Amino acid sequence: MEYLLGIDIGTSGTKTVLFDTNGAVIASCTVEYPMQQPQNGWAEQNPDDWWNAVCQGIQAVLKQSAIDAKSIRGIGLSGQMHSLVMLDEENKVLRPAILWCDQRTAAECEEIYERVGKERYIEITANPALTGFTAGKILWVRNHEPEIYSKCRHILLAKDYVRFRLCGVYATEVSDASGMGLLDVPQRCWSDEVLTKLEIEPELLAKVYESPEVTGTITEDAAAKTGLAVGTPVVGGAGDNAAAAVGTGVVEDGKAFATIGTSGVVFAHTSQLSVDPKGRVHTFCCAVPGAWHVMGVTLAAGQSLKWYRDQFCGLDCLEAEKQNVDPYVLLDKAAEQVPIGSNRLLYLPYLMGERTPHLDPDCRGAFVGLSGMHTRYDLLRAVMEGVTFSLRDCAEILREMQVRPTEILACGGGGTSPLWRQMLADVLGCPVATTVSKEGPALGVAILAGVGAGVYASVEEGCRKLIAVNASQAPIASNVEKYEAFYKVYQALYPALKEQYHVLAGL
Ligand code: XUL
Repeated sequence: MEYLLGIDIGTSGTKTVLFDTNGAVIASCTVEYPMQQPQNGWAEQNPDDWWNAVCQGIQAVLKQSAIDAKSIRGIGLSGQMHSLVMLDEENKVLRPAILWCDQRTAAECEEIYERVGKERYIEITANPALTGFTAGKILWVRNHEPEIYSKCRHILLAKDYVRFRLCGVYATEVSDASGMGLLDVPQRCWSDEVLTKLEIEPELLAKVYESPEVTGTITEDAAAKTGLAVGTPVVGGAGDNAAAAVGTGVVEDGKAFATIGTSGVVFAHTSQLSVDPKGRVHTFCCAVPGAWHVMGVTLAAGQSLKWYRDQFCGLDCLEAEKQNVDPYVLLDKAAEQVPIGSNRLLYLPYLMGERTPHLDPDCRGAFVGLSGMHTRYDLLRAVMEGVTFSLRDCAEILREMQVRPTEILACGGGGTSPLWRQMLADVLGCPVATTVSKEGPALGVAILAGVGAGVYASVEEGCRKLIAVNASQAPIASNVEKYEAFYKVYQALYPALKEQYHVLAGL
């Protein structure tokens, strides 16, 4: 038997999954780590936490499965996008990684437009300068921590830092590189023009590959730390969303998925480059060579629910421990008892500011309509509904761009909740299905590893062989109508609060 390894370096933890070449899970291990928020709107992590989690995860799956590490044909890496890692001459991490959901770079995004010109920048990178993207973070370090910037010799993304530790190479691939704001997305290579105008030395950046290409092999040092065999190939892999697309079979036109992980995403494949002129959704290279995807992002999707659970659901968590079930399963049941509209309560999920559709780093979350009669379960359901309304905002923009999927695959932690899936079907007005495998990004990059190692002829062929879809949940007409009325109110709330958010951010 031969195997493929998929590693997803996420924001809440790293998931390492060993698959056989038919896509069956042989062993799996998740190792969690914290996120630091040193200031309101900032988000950082320690890259060593990722590396330790990867070492622990690989050792665990090798032990659980008791396979010979030499029978692993290839390894694929996936992970949180945009997060900035800086290394010095000796490859030491210079400062904590600045994460995708960090909002400190509004001034640097303006600086990018001043230097490149807004229209030209969007023409080259296919996206606006967003606070979450890496380019602004690089300029922020240069502007605020010049002594650190002057020592910086290598700039890497989260999964590419792990690749460096595994293979000793500085490499990335087109899907993740698209989210740096430095890639010529139509041409799939670094933009000399953007780098020159931003005065970023090209030598700082990693070599760009297509996602299924082999980028390096396991070094002796990494083999000693993980138990992997020296020389095992590591392919480009993909940013978590592009990887989830492969893991759910969203690799051809007309297919789309919605995910609720820490962030929430509505993602559609497109073989033609398509850019929203207002920049409200992202256009990135996808993991299928020569194709792209468009996606809208809700920054705090699962993060909203996790925040709510941690702050207000201590009793439910204790009960879950007693019953030995996942607290989210109990919370799901409690939210199901609350009627649609959460007894006239709405939640805006802008805990970390928002990308789609507002592109506003200053907005923040809100409950609107709170009453003395509300229980913590009304608030809980309102959180789930608010996140779903925000994903509807994403889907509306894709529709404006004539991207109209006929079925949406639900994935991520939120996709495992039947209640959340029905909400998605009712609010997006489209059948929602799940894939048989729940491994999304990890399976996606394992398939890419299989393509790189010659197990599958192409990404599409790998998906055809490995991805099976369950029966879909259709929208329920009476629910659709009820949600529609609440969605209209939800849509009106951000414009009403916008000015005050900015005043508040300035206090
Ligand atoms: C995508 C994005 C998030 C992160 C989360 O643009 O910022 O989905 O990749 O992991």
